[in-house]
Amino acid sequence: MKIISVVGARPQFIKCAPVSRELRKEHEEILVHTGQHYDPEMSEIFFDELEIPRPDYNLGVGSGSHGKQTGEILMRVEDVLLKEKPDLVFVYGDTNSTLAGALAAAKLHIPVAHVESGLRSFDRTMPEEINRVVTDHISDLLFCPTQTSVDNLAAEGITKGVHLVGDVMADALAYNRDIAQRKSRILETLGLTGKAYCVLTVHRAGNTDNRENLTSIIRAVGDAGVPVVFPVHPRTRKYLQEYGLLANLPDTIHLIDPLGYLDMIRLMESAQKILTDSGGMQKEAYMLGVPCITLRENTEWVETVEAGWNVLAGTGTDPIKISILSNFPTNPRLELYPSGASQRIREIIGVIL
Ligand code: UD1
Repeated sequence: MKIISVVGARPQFIKCAPVSRELRKEHEEILVHTGQHYDPEMSEIFFDELEIPRPDYNLGVGSGSHGKQTGEILMRVEDVLLKEKPDLVFVYGDTNSTLAGALAAAKLHIPVAHVESGLRSFDRTMPEEINRVVTDHISDLLFCPTQTSVDNLAAEGITKGVHLVGDVMADALAYNRDIAQRKSRILETLGLTGKAYCVLTVHRAGNTDNRENLTSIIRAVGDAGVPVVFPVHPRTRKYLQEYGLLANLPDTIHLIDPLGYLDMIRLMESAQKILTDSGGMQKEAYMLGVPCITLRENTEWVETVEAGWNVLAGTGTDPIKISILSNFPTNPRLELYPSGASQRIREIIGVIL
């Protein structure tokens, strides 16, 4: 079978790595990189570290408004699909590349497989939520990471083609954790001692494009007085600069460039706590056994909150500060995200198509 996988943003490179490895055991895979993320530390490094085959197509779309970016990807993916005539198109997660890839295929009547299907924040102000909902409704195979995601689809009337396979990010982590411990020198480079610092990441539009929220987060982290390492997403750096926060960062915050996957795992694994608005990092924190403070009012990964290892602190200065300084419950960590999803995906498409 000829499969086209469409990726474009950092978390998609991580998700596609284990799936691609499985798919290539039995099928021909053509990898399309939309170019949504293009800085070497947002893209190239992931292909190198995760041993992802070089993209067959790089569409070079780059940045832009949501409409422009989504439209450009839609047009350019369509050209590739018309030329390659695949049997199936894989899309991942919830970015503009996901939506545009799925839409291009669905309009050409090419079956779409959505990996990480059924997640919902129930917050339609998030661009990712729009992307998820639309992608799920035009997909033929819906690979869900959790029972909650299966239930979310059922509530929207989607039951056909739904498969609870588990989380492909668990596969990526299982494969790379030992490698990260062997290869990463990030703790030494930054002079860090295990469990003596927190990790901070912020990139959601609701936090970066909002002066009040970003200011509040930075103030809370500074007030807590704990050393914090902050690998900063390019969009976040831009807004820190624009809001005048860059020049006045609390000296407990150590701003660094975005990290590759191996360094990030190593940094997270040894952290005291993780503060983030990323979906993937909430899960990774849980799998690594590190308490997570989520800088949002909602989450798609509700199991981590129910398990007591993730706190929804929102963006208020006090709730964030209190969460940083308080002890987390040491509830047992059940295996919420067992590995093996990528293999199950290969097995399912082998039977169905
Ligand atoms: C995207 C996804 C989000 C995902 C995130 C992971 C959408 C709507 N959002 O957000 O779901 O969690 O990726 O990082 O698709 N930029 C650079 N260099 C890069 C990439 C981006 O400088 O390599 C800057 C540009 O200023 C750009 C901005 O970041 O305008 C936003 O990039 P964009 O592609 O819109 O998405 P993200 O904010 O990264």
